[in-house]
Amino acid sequence: MVSNEEIVPESAALQELDALNAEAEQRWKDKLKVDASLTRSLVSFQANKSRAIYRWYKYKEAFSAGLVEVLLGKHTNGKGLLLDPFAGSGTAMFAAGTQGMEAEGIELLPIGQTIIDTKQIIDWELERADVEAISVWAATAPWKDSTECRQLHELRITKGAYPPDTVVSLGKYLAAAERENKRVQAVLQFALLCILETISYTRKDGQYLRWDHRSGRRQGEKGFQQRPHPEF
Ligand SMILES: C[S@@+](CC[C@H](N)C(=O)[O-])C[C@H]1O[C@@H](n2cnc3c(N)ncnc32)[C@H](O)[C@@H]1O
Repeated sequence: MVSNEEIVPESAALQELDALNAEAEQRWKDKLKVDASLTRSLVSFQANKSRAIYRWYKYKEAFSAGLVEVLLGKHTNGKGLLLDPFAGSGTAMFAAGTQGMEAEGIELLPIGQTIIDTKQIIDWELERADVEAISVWAATAPWKDSTECRQLHELRITKGAYPPDTVVSLGKYLAAAERENKRVQAVLQFALLCILETISYTRKDGQYLRWDHRSGRRQGEKGFQQRPHPEF
């Protein structure tokens, strides 16, 4: 149990962090080098917004592919094996692979593993007929006519995360996807993951979920209202 004396107000904790940061910068100032080419837009995930595949799933913790390319260009000869022990969405591995290097990674979270697996399928395994099947999905939305509907597995913390008609569309989409082969299914599931937050009443905010007021969850000032709320 945490006693009252141990709870440090947030502003005091931030001030302490700032002071420690300033002290460290002072102590290591002879060793620190500022590289002006590493701009904010190059080093943040935002830089992936203009890159197909990298931008599809919003994994905010991801590196920018451009940054990895700059660093590989500076510090490697484009050969050898890159190991990323915290692979996330696989940016470093895929950027290294594009430059002709081999790459391996370790990632703890299933969502990271899924992103990496699907990127591999897209890069190496899709056949022409698969691409055609995906194009048909994009053009004709075949799930809309599905007579089957899968039930979503819900956790208590995500209960009510989607409007009722979106839950039905999701269930039909999942049922219709089962008719496709494994590669196409993987891409369709990934496409779904990429839009899930947008069509839900929730937003990830650090460690927390924020809820749209229309979800019926009481959120106080943390709530938000997305206008217009996109349909599935
Ligand atoms: C900053 S992110 C890496 C982002 C990645 N470079 C990218 O571009 O997508 C750090 C990752 O390390 C993963 N992670 C944390 N602890 C781990 C562990 N013990 N083993 C494997 N992965 C871990 C997290 O799940 C997170 O995805």
